[in-house]
Amino acid sequence: MSAAPPPVAAQDALHEEDALGKAYDSRLLRRLWRYVAPYRVQVWWTLGLVAPVFLLELAPAWIVRIGIDRVIAPAIGESGPIGGARPGVFATPPSFLSGLAEAPSWVPPLVWLGALYLVMMIGSAALQFVQSWVMAKTGQLAMRDLRSDVFRHLSTLHIGYFDRTPVGRIVTRATNDVENVAEMFTAGIVALVTDVIKMVGFAVALFVVDARLALVTFSVVPFLTGIAIVFRLRIRDAFRAVRVRIARINATLQETVTGMKVVQLFNREERNLRDFAELNAAHRDAWIVSIRYDAALFAAVETAQNLTVALVIWWGTGIASVGVLYVFIDWMRRFFMPLRDLSAKYSVMQSSMASCERIFQLLDTEPRVKDPVVAPEVGHRFSGQGAIALENVWFAYQREDFVLRDVSFRIEPGERVALVGATGAGKTSVIKLLNRFYDPDRGRVLLDGVDLREMPQQELRRRVALVQQDVFLFSGTVAENIGLGRPDIDAAAIERAARAVAADEFIAKLPQGYATPLHERGANLSGGQRQLLSFARALAHGADVLVLDEATSAIDTETEASIQRALRVLWEGRTALVIAHRLSTIQDVDRIHVLHHGRIVESGRHEDLLAQRGLYHRLYRLQYERQAEASAVSDARRGARV
Ligand SMILES: Nc1ncnc2c1ncn2[C@@H]1O[C@H](COP(=O)(O)OP(=O)(O)OP(=O)(O)O)[C@@H](O)[C@H]1O
Ligand SMILES: [Mg+2]
Repeated sequence: MSAAPPPVAAQDALHEEDALGKAYDSRLLRRLWRYVAPYRVQVWWTLGLVAPVFLLELAPAWIVRIGIDRVIAPAIGESGPIGGARPGVFATPPSFLSGLAEAPSWVPPLVWLGALYLVMMIGSAALQFVQSWVMAKTGQLAMRDLRSDVFRHLSTLHIGYFDRTPVGRIVTRATNDVENVAEMFTAGIVALVTDVIKMVGFAVALFVVDARLALVTFSVVPFLTGIAIVFRLRIRDAFRAVRVRIARINATLQETVTGMKVVQLFNREERNLRDFAELNAAHRDAWIVSIRYDAALFAAVETAQNLTVALVIWWGTGIASVGVLYVFIDWMRRFFMPLRDLSAKYSVMQSSMASCERIFQLLDTEPRVKDPVVAPEVGHRFSGQGAIALENVWFAYQREDFVLRDVSFRIEPGERVALVGATGAGKTSVIKLLNRFYDPDRGRVLLDGVDLREMPQQELRRRVALVQQDVFLFSGTVAENIGLGRPDIDAAAIERAARAVAADEFIAKLPQGYATPLHERGANLSGGQRQLLSFARALAHGADVLVLDEATSAIDTETEASIQRALRVLWEGRTALVIAHRLSTIQDVDRIHVLHHGRIVESGRHEDLLAQRGLYHRLYRLQYERQAEASAVSDARRGARV
């Protein structure tokens, strides 16, 4: 089977998900401890319970032993070791238990011991309940804090980060990865520590009860440890293969779902299904391998455990009493139990550590666009009418690949300026700099004479209203999408803004008016309606500067007219920078700059630029001809229909 190479996004994901390294990394754990520290009392509680739980696990077998050796054996005429060879090394139980085990005269001894057994079992179950409950809760509390930190940090990162990082990966950090770390609390580190303590405890207890018998039975331990190590390595590799393949599946799924429109438009369903089937099969095979090793390890431990039972009976008969043999068999079983799922716990630790590392990596990603350090009293310095200036701005998304080259222009307060140019000329990039999604590589961007880098971002956002090419709408109601949760914009203000840009007409026609919930990204609105809604949003927020990146998508003439009218309302009394794709929009602006490959090549008013017969003239002619063509076609159609 030759698997097709995964898509690029998937390959990226692979490199990350592949990194399954150490199961223990003190540096990461120390950093994680900061999240656990506020709840450390609960951690001490859980660890403190390890000893009582252990003692309660020791007790039941010992009670049975007393029952056998003191009550049953005498009753059937057997006492001491079977065959009467020699008395058990530990002939009498620890005094506190003997005292307890002494039944009052009015209770039959076996009933008394049975009741005692029951009490111990219930006590042990209760303590274990408390232990795992407290631990899981601590884990969840700490993880909530960690998840909040991830979320908070995400909103400080510059837009460029989100341009480069696939959404799926970011979502994974805050969900799956945090979940993985939480598992460390429930099934990882604490379980491992508890297991080790218990195993040592049982080993010591067995030696105290009968050293010779213990030596004999523990003879299988080195052998078993060897097997466990070999299997653990195999399981780790298999598990890594599983994770790599699930990452591929995730990436493919994400890509397909995001691009479902394209998939269906280009009839790629069949092809995608085949690709997915291959990934799916590879994932299944990886699991089968890992399951096989897991089952084999389980069987090996089980066999070793049964072997010790055989050894205990074979060697022990004649040395120890039946009761002591029982104690040995029970405790050995408990000693081996943790070994069986050691590999599972190891994998949990590994994936927790890897997730932990990835989360911290995200938290360590420095925001490239930072707020200046300003004293609060300087805050009021940022007032003005909204003059914009770009001074010799150079900018590249990647290294030296400049998309803006030495761009300079000024917009005085209240002026309207338009940027035009072919697709990819760099128009949207200018707007991104003006909104400080990125910082320029050389030169400065100024608002009212202040370098944007010297201005708190909140201030900038308050002053500049941006209407983007692809309007972003949140899932929420129409009103919420206009007000964006700002308390000073009430229902009346929202409706006023909508009316001003003539968005109220279509809103009134929606099933619940302003309270109509919008689907994800406003999927239940048309492109023109989304645009009008974003105008209302910009108006309601009352910024000094309006930046508009007109949508490229075709809009019907009627909507276009209402958008034109809305735009006039919107830029009234504001400084406006407009990127217009329909040149008819900007015929009466104060100045037009023509961008070509990142440089301003022409500037002036509409008529002057036309008279120059340069690039603007060409753009205008092209558009004019296309429009004439389109209207000729529609005229012809209309004519045909008549
Ligand atoms: N996030 C990004 N990472 C890398 N390169 C980018 C990014 N965004 C844009 N570019 C590149 O920068 C150049 C300018 O893009 P920009 O979006 O500014 O063009 P535009 O003039 O707005 O085009 P359009 O009219 O199609 O909207 C293009 O060559 C584009 O490929
Ligand atoms: Mg653009």
